[in-house]
Amino acid sequence: MRSSVLGSRLLFICDAAVALASSGIATASAPLTTTLNITVEDLWNLYIGPVETASINTTVEPTPIPSAELIPPPQLYYPSYLSGAQIPGQGKNESWSLPAGFWWGVSSASYQVEGAVKVDGRGPSLWDAFTHRAMSVADNQTGDVTINEYYMYKQDIQRIAAMGVKAYSFSIAWSRIFPFGNGPINEAGLKHYDDVIETCLQYGVQPQVTMYHWDLPLYIQLSYGGWTNEKIVDDFVAYTRVLLERWGNKVAQWYTFNEPISFCGEYPVPDGYFTRTTDIPDVQQPFWCGHYMLLAAGKTYQLARSMNITVPISIKNNGGYKLPRTSSDEDTEAVQRAWAFNEGWFADPLFLGDYPSRLKNFTSSFLPEFTAEERNMIKGASDYFAHDAYTAAYYMAPDVGIEGCLADANNSLYPKCYNSTYTLPASEGGWLIGPASDPNTRWLHKATEWLPAFLHYIQDTWTPANGIVITEFGMTEPFEAYKTKREDILTDPLRSAYYRDYVQAMLMAIQEGVTLVGCLAWSIADNLEWTAGFTVKFGLQYVNLTTQERYYKASFFELANLFQAYMRDSE
Ligand code: NOJ
Repeated sequence: MRSSVLGSRLLFICDAAVALASSGIATASAPLTTTLNITVEDLWNLYIGPVETASINTTVEPTPIPSAELIPPPQLYYPSYLSGAQIPGQGKNESWSLPAGFWWGVSSASYQVEGAVKVDGRGPSLWDAFTHRAMSVADNQTGDVTINEYYMYKQDIQRIAAMGVKAYSFSIAWSRIFPFGNGPINEAGLKHYDDVIETCLQYGVQPQVTMYHWDLPLYIQLSYGGWTNEKIVDDFVAYTRVLLERWGNKVAQWYTFNEPISFCGEYPVPDGYFTRTTDIPDVQQPFWCGHYMLLAAGKTYQLARSMNITVPISIKNNGGYKLPRTSSDEDTEAVQRAWAFNEGWFADPLFLGDYPSRLKNFTSSFLPEFTAEERNMIKGASDYFAHDAYTAAYYMAPDVGIEGCLADANNSLYPKCYNSTYTLPASEGGWLIGPASDPNTRWLHKATEWLPAFLHYIQDTWTPANGIVITEFGMTEPFEAYKTKREDILTDPLRSAYYRDYVQAMLMAIQEGVTLVGCLAWSIADNLEWTAGFTVKFGLQYVNLTTQERYYKASFFELANLFQAYMRDSE
């Protein structure tokens, strides 16, 4: 029904590999192509296949939270001093405080939490195709149902408000608004987010919205190769115009993009599942993606300002603190290359006006220079230095040396030509940088003691005029998915320690002069961790995936208590 309302699009289908030589006539190898008139339903059927549906499939109205659920757990730490405790179990260092106006919140992303993937006209996204077909996901899990946030948002917003959370950062699924990514608009999708935003406001929780958290409308990938094609810039801006017209200043903060380093790293998309649309060499594709992302972010930012939208607009960048593994010159240079190919890839154009030179040495042979107009449009298109800053790692030169790697395009580390690890050399004890998280999140260690240095580095290098916001931080409790008893799951000491030490590290950095404006913990509740599926848990709340019941974990109390103790507003 809905697909007829939304109409259909032409899809160009191409078999680039077919040669016409079998007749013996000497023809050049030519692609066989055709076009199809395709509906949203066809896209689902042809590219995704059957999807799971949830048993709860109407919006759940919140019921009062039993007061017993809000009782904090027994104290995890036994401080050597107890002076000035504001609340039971939370010692306080009187010389620290969070600046006035500081906000904290919890976050999520559409594909990871919503479920209801075919409901109300949503078109499939790249991630529906990844989880169902094109990528190996732990236990073959998908986002078809996940934590059913599409129907549970009222209850979830009520639950975080009850814990004193000030902000909820969620993302909008582009393919709920434009099922094909471009073309017809789906009013039902807009109405859904109308209500999510209104519910936040009703509970006194600031809505913070990410416009793009990786769930590219599949049609855009199929028809022209998504982020590898310049056409996406205008399609993205047409989409964001709709969001800005609808919600503009009602949203407390906009984030145009989440972690471009990550989603640009999805290119080239796996062979054999998507129409072939580009002859850009594999190694270049992420950098074209990044280039178009910056142009799209810059245009959206300018558009918003031309519409008198005054709330902060930022890009969520990501990466951990980088330490040289040894004091050698090569490892020191490896760290510089790592900053350039990670944070600097986007932070340099956004805050300094162009790509870092170490990155440009590679990209200048194929990427166009930004024009002066583009440069001006992109510089300043992130009000805050918004960073997903979870952890830290050691960096070092490749075994063949940096020069050796740069001279060999077949080296697996090319073109970045640095390596990283979480352990010190055996000669220095071989210790981990910090306690390991779940084995299925190998990249994540509790290395909170490096956060002040990290924040100083950001502030000194990119001098963001409005300061820094930490847009994600969080921890997976090792082996949590194996736990079967609810009380075992809810008692999460590593995550609690991580949040405690992380917030204390934030306080230290603030006291040392870092302008930190706010932070968002990942995540509101256990959800689909991309290809790790539900085998790892980042939630501040446990979700029983069978009953869809939510329960606060001990770490949520830890985090809420810290903010209650240190927020100046509450003193
Ligand atoms: C980065 C991403 O933005 C989010 O989607 C992911 O789940 C978390 N960090 C944890 O990996």
